Amino acid sequence: MNQNTCAYTLRIMEQLLKVVQQLSATHDLEAVMDIVRHSVRELTGSDGATFVLRDGDSCYYAEEDAITPLWKGLRFPMKICISGWVMQNRQPAIIEDIYKDNRIPIDAYRKTFVRSLAMVPIKTNNPIGAIGCYWSKIYSPTPEQIQVLQVLADTAAIAIDNIGYQENIARQARLLEEGIDGTLLTVAKMVELKDPYTSGHQRRVGILSFDIACELGWDKKRCETLRRAAIVHDIGKIGIPGELLSKPSQLTPQEFSLIQTHAEMSYDILKDVNFLMPIAQIICQHHERIDGSGYPHGLKTENILPEAKIIAVADVFEAMTSHRPYRPALGIDAALAELILNKGVLYDPEVVDSLVRLMKEKDYRIPE
Ligand SMILES: [Fe+2]
Repeated sequence: MNQNTCAYTLRIMEQLLKVVQQLSATHDLEAVMDIVRHSVRELTGSDGATFVLRDGDSCYYAEEDAITPLWKGLRFPMKICISGWVMQNRQPAIIEDIYKDNRIPIDAYRKTFVRSLAMVPIKTNNPIGAIGCYWSKIYSPTPEQIQVLQVLADTAAIAIDNIGYQENIARQARLLEEGIDGTLLTVAKMVELKDPYTSGHQRRVGILSFDIACELGWDKKRCETLRRAAIVHDIGKIGIPGELLSKPSQLTPQEFSLIQTHAEMSYDILKDVNFLMPIAQIICQHHERIDGSGYPHGLKTENILPEAKIIAVADVFEAMTSHRPYRPALGIDAALAELILNKGVLYDPEVVDSLVRLMKEKDYRIPE
């Protein structure tokens, strides 16, 4: 191998490596096609490249990069086009002169610049497409060029498979999340059956907590976790007698302390469930207050989880603005005034500010 050939091969190897890296980081088919069609031309020095996908019994010319337009967006029956031949025979087609090869549908080529071509299948065992490159003169592609083309096709096949796996994983994760949401809402309803006056309370606290967290600029995933925790924040009430929960008159101090046990009971119920997030701790703290006057542990601000601080505010606000048998609903302004009064004492100032901003400046209302 002389020095020039050596330098050329090295350059091609470097470029190929770059393309392989780009393809392995790709998450969608459009990007795969885009990378391939450009790199095919660059690496083979051809005048055009196409990316063909199998679509049932048709060959779909999905992408191209060529000196003048070829067949982008068109479909041809597998039987009559060369990409179909490549896929059906699971092997490359190398054609020096298209006018001398009876596999070529000559009418489709006559109006193009193409005089010679090389085409390889994507996934040789079970082709899902083909990659082709074209020259405007009679040309005999070198074995190296065919090899480069096949490496591109094989890498594209892996990238396409990866996209499929990722989509599948995302679909499974979505289903799992829907399942978790459904389960949490069912549990919330079971709790609320004991106290019909608070029906929908936890769901609404979930929505409001989510929106407060978004307003605070939290990332979506953390907001979602918070919403899920809030949906079951009173789960421990399942262990409290129903007549106490819906008692229409003032509670005695003993009754009130019994109700207060629901926070720790919530923790006990959920502590062994692996939610990949500390849901049990969050809801255990939703009655803690930043000055240490809350329950069950009298935690002060630095020891209360930010999620619990948000649920605390959302919980109080939702409760105050909802009707109860022993008192009418407080208006939004009165409820906000109460929270502002205790801002920095009982409630986290940033959380209260965020709720006030939502209600006053953005005219937010908890969706039914
Ligand atoms: Fe509670």
